[in-house]
Amino acid sequence: MARRDAGIAHERYRHVVADVRAPEFRAQLTDVLDSIGAPLELCVYSTGIGHPLDLADMTHDADTFATNLTGLGITAEVVIPRMIAAKRGHLIGLSSQADRWIDGDAPSYSASKAGMSSYLEGLALACRKHGVAVTNIRFGFVDTEMAKSDIRPFIVSAERAAKVVERCIRSRPIRHTFPRRIAVLLWLARIPRGIRILLS
Ligand SMILES: NC(=O)c1ccc[n+]([C@@H]2O[C@H](COP(=O)([O-])OP(=O)(O)OC[C@H]3O[C@@H](n4cnc5c(N)ncnc54)[C@H](OP(=O)(O)O)[C@@H]3O)[C@@H](O)[C@H]2O)c1
Repeated sequence: MARRDAGIAHERYRHVVADVRAPEFRAQLTDVLDSIGAPLELCVYSTGIGHPLDLADMTHDADTFATNLTGLGITAEVVIPRMIAAKRGHLIGLSSQADRWIDGDAPSYSASKAGMSSYLEGLALACRKHGVAVTNIRFGFVDTEMAKSDIRPFIVSAERAAKVVERCIRSRPIRHTFPRRIAVLLWLARIPRGIRILLS
């Protein structure tokens, strides 16, 4: 499912155009799963947007929360009870290492990712005793349409990121951070910001 058509034609592939912010998204996802019939093995929530903060027009911020966080909540609401009933399945969410980043440039992106990471990992703890896995993948910079900033340290290709997702499908960790070197950079960059916040 995605907002735009995928342009992929294959007998084993079916594409459904859907907007996770639309009131009908919950019903659309339910219909897709009902039509498949078989138990749901894997759901990857990769939907995401991020915009720089514009203090004169903050509509992007509410949109970012609706897309990144509420969309994941609705997806979990539909897929997790089915997986729990089947005692199998795996939900993966693509969060970000921005989940621990506080700054004035795109606060809704990092806040929505903080919410995603916290939700996914809590859900993972609740689900694992029922045979259902939930994984929080925290990428640094991946070379896609989204990574528009001028500074993109240790950026990885979309193919490399896909391999990381593939590995997580097999190993089913609760949290996977990639690449870890970004975490060190972010930790160092957080120190002066933390001091500024403490002193203000
Ligand atoms: N790229 C990075 O550096 C990076 C780093 C860390 C984490 N991530 C996370 O990885 C995930 C995938 O991002 P990406 O890099 O692949 O970015 P992307 O190429 O921009 O892909 C984002 C996807 O989300 C879909 N989408 C956006 N709004 C939607 C909506 N309202 N309803 C349904 N689908 C919607 C887009 O569909 P349309 O194209 O049809 O609009 C697109 O397929 C995101 O959650 C992102 O936050 C990315």
